[in-house]
Amino acid sequence: MNSIPLLDLAQQYQSVQHELDQAVLEVMASGRYIGGESVMTFEREFAEYLGTNHCVSCNSGTDALFLALRALEIGPGDQVVTTPFTFIATVEMISAVGATPVFVDIDPETFNLDLDQLAALLRASGPAKPKAILPVHLFGRPLDMTTLMALAQDYGIPVIEDCAQATGATWEGRQVGSFGAMGCFSFFPTKNLGAFGDGGAIATTDPKLAQRLRVLKEHGATRRYYHEEIGINSRLDAMQAAILRVKLGHLDSWNQQRRQVADYYHQLLAPLPNLHLPSDLPGHVWNQYSLRLGATHDRDRLRSRLQELGVGTMVYYPTPLHSQPVYRHLGYSEGDFPATEAVCRQVLSLPMFPELKREQQERVLYHLKQFLVEP
Ligand SMILES: Cc1ncc(COP(=O)(O)O)c(C=O)c1O
Repeated sequence: MNSIPLLDLAQQYQSVQHELDQAVLEVMASGRYIGGESVMTFEREFAEYLGTNHCVSCNSGTDALFLALRALEIGPGDQVVTTPFTFIATVEMISAVGATPVFVDIDPETFNLDLDQLAALLRASGPAKPKAILPVHLFGRPLDMTTLMALAQDYGIPVIEDCAQATGATWEGRQVGSFGAMGCFSFFPTKNLGAFGDGGAIATTDPKLAQRLRVLKEHGATRRYYHEEIGINSRLDAMQAAILRVKLGHLDSWNQQRRQVADYYHQLLAPLPNLHLPSDLPGHVWNQYSLRLGATHDRDRLRSRLQELGVGTMVYYPTPLHSQPVYRHLGYSEGDFPATEAVCRQVLSLPMFPELKREQQERVLYHLKQFLVEP
């Protein structure tokens, strides 16, 4: 029997192969492989899609975060509030600019920052308030940006949204990445809008920030060969931009297909005992379908059983960031973020991609059920 992978990028390529091949060939024939028309046009089209005036492309989601933090002049001695339940890049870039990450626990229902706990932290922070808040729209689920922005505005703290897993997600009809001072996107191939290599972008409505990001991503140059500060080299190449332009045209319909896959999982899995299904809301774009197993389930055994049966799964993420060896120096201990710690023990991501067939989902259910009901 055919296996059911966690995701299948080749199927997506085949579905738009002609358009993509054409776009790549055009770039190859153009002789312009860095910058140029396709990059500028993608930036304009992506900014239009998001409803921000500006989009500055760069080499990755990681660079996007680094550049955004630098653009706000965040550095040594500064604190940035974020979640301990995310991919390391979010927190790593806070450290990379020399600042200190400060964690707030998640809401286990949404996997996103717990905004009551964030409010309590800000109330307690006094004059030494954080320099930025860096929320993550994890697994494609938008955070409540109305509450977050109101809180951030009360305290006068800028927000950088990590939208790496949530391209196309909306909160109350508005695109994520358009609420904060800047929104950071990743075009890593597994993302909802994925390139055929690395890529990233920062969206902003502020022309001054956009200008500063452009300087920082081009070696700190304010004009050619004239450098006013230390920057980096971070480019989205022309080929990736051309690919992303094609794929942007399909993003909403692919996200809609992801929603249908998620709805069908909900329907299939709801009767199973002891499973905690991911909570839905309009605007969720389902980069991952991550459920929580019951406390008594043996996740490792389940995963290897599913693996033997050809069903791909993944644990995003097994270790909370406050418990990572690299963050030992921050002085957190086990028990500091109980929701994150519990979720890391229980979470499991099932196959999720727009082209996943109902019949494949039914087979996932069949195997899961055998393990969960008759282990
Ligand atoms: C939440 C989050 N932030 C940042 C990144 C970094 O993006 P990239 O891999 O493009 O550097 C990722 C990538 O997996 C991510 O999931």
